Amino acid sequence: MLTLGVETSCDETSCAVLVGRHKILSNVVSSSLFRHQPFGGVVPEIASRHCLEQIDFVFAQALKAARVKAGDLGLVAVTEGPGLIGSLLVGVAFAKALAYDLEIPLVGVNHLEAHLAANFIGADEPSSYIGLIVSGGHTSLTHHEHGKVTLLGETVDDAAGEAFDKTAKILGLGYPGGPVIEKLAREGNPAAVPFTKPKQKNRFDFSFSGIKTAVLYLVRGHKGNGCLPKRFKADLCASFQKAVVSWLVEKSVEACRYTKARDIVVGGGVSANSYFRQKLAEAGAPEGVKVWFPPLSLTSDNAAMIARRGLDLYEICRERFETVPYSFDLTGNPNLRIA
Ligand code: KG4
Ligand code: ZN
Repeated sequence: MLTLGVETSCDETSCAVLVGRHKILSNVVSSSLFRHQPFGGVVPEIASRHCLEQIDFVFAQALKAARVKAGDLGLVAVTEGPGLIGSLLVGVAFAKALAYDLEIPLVGVNHLEAHLAANFIGADEPSSYIGLIVSGGHTSLTHHEHGKVTLLGETVDDAAGEAFDKTAKILGLGYPGGPVIEKLAREGNPAAVPFTKPKQKNRFDFSFSGIKTAVLYLVRGHKGNGCLPKRFKADLCASFQKAVVSWLVEKSVEACRYTKARDIVVGGGVSANSYFRQKLAEAGAPEGVKVWFPPLSLTSDNAAMIARRGLDLYEICRERFETVPYSFDLTGNPNLRIA
């Protein structure tokens, strides 16, 4: 069966065609990133207008690249939330109209679950695992067992990606912060600044707002002519990245010990970070834990992961309820949670 994925939760507009569970025929993404860069972060009104302008074209391109026609599609899967309401509504309205017109099933997908599902295109989902979401808006640790999801911890303030973005802004490095911090960190000394690990009541919760403030004070306290030397910035980037990654790694491995899970599945934009990939793999190996990262092409927001998760939901619905999902009462849910 061919599944169309539709993703418009934030600043990307994406449509993808998936055949079966494991083969992507097309995955077209139109980003409005360049429109937000002058503002140092995503402007919701600009993001939703971009989605509205792009959705028809992106859909047509996805069909063309997959060499299929709309009538060949068997299922539509669309991001229901979380995200920006204006952007979400564009995708949901588009998907509903299309599924209605084609008389095919429609499923709403949780964007965070889809980030994890990006790992399951090309490999089957393990029956039990720790899910680690590290995106621009969310950071959470979940335990997945035979489809049941339990929240172990989440951030109490900023998300991991948000911490990269805000720190980059303080250092005058532009938006988004993750890739530029990763690049500059390669030239810096990760031991230059020993950032303090924040303490949480729940040992699986995260906090990233303190480290951003610590960077702000270091920048303010820097004696110079107002211009930060490259060496100083590189050392801060390397130390910041080392600290954030070590907290993510420690808690994920600890969550595996606690739940006896043998797999850690990572999803979200920060999973593109190669230092993080290396450190988590190194920490998992001696514990006998397999670490899953999506291919780089599927780390940021895309519709292939939505299609993959949507197909799972469709199959669950057919198996358990012997029916197919027609979610025509679906609407955007900006605060949708993973558990
Ligand atoms: O998952 P995503 O594409 O969008 C959301 O759903 O939020 O994540 C975007 C986030 C941004 O905060 C960005 O700075 C971060 O992912 N990011 C990275 C890297 N590439 C993107 N963070 C660290 N290192 C990277 N290489
Ligand atoms: Zn995302």
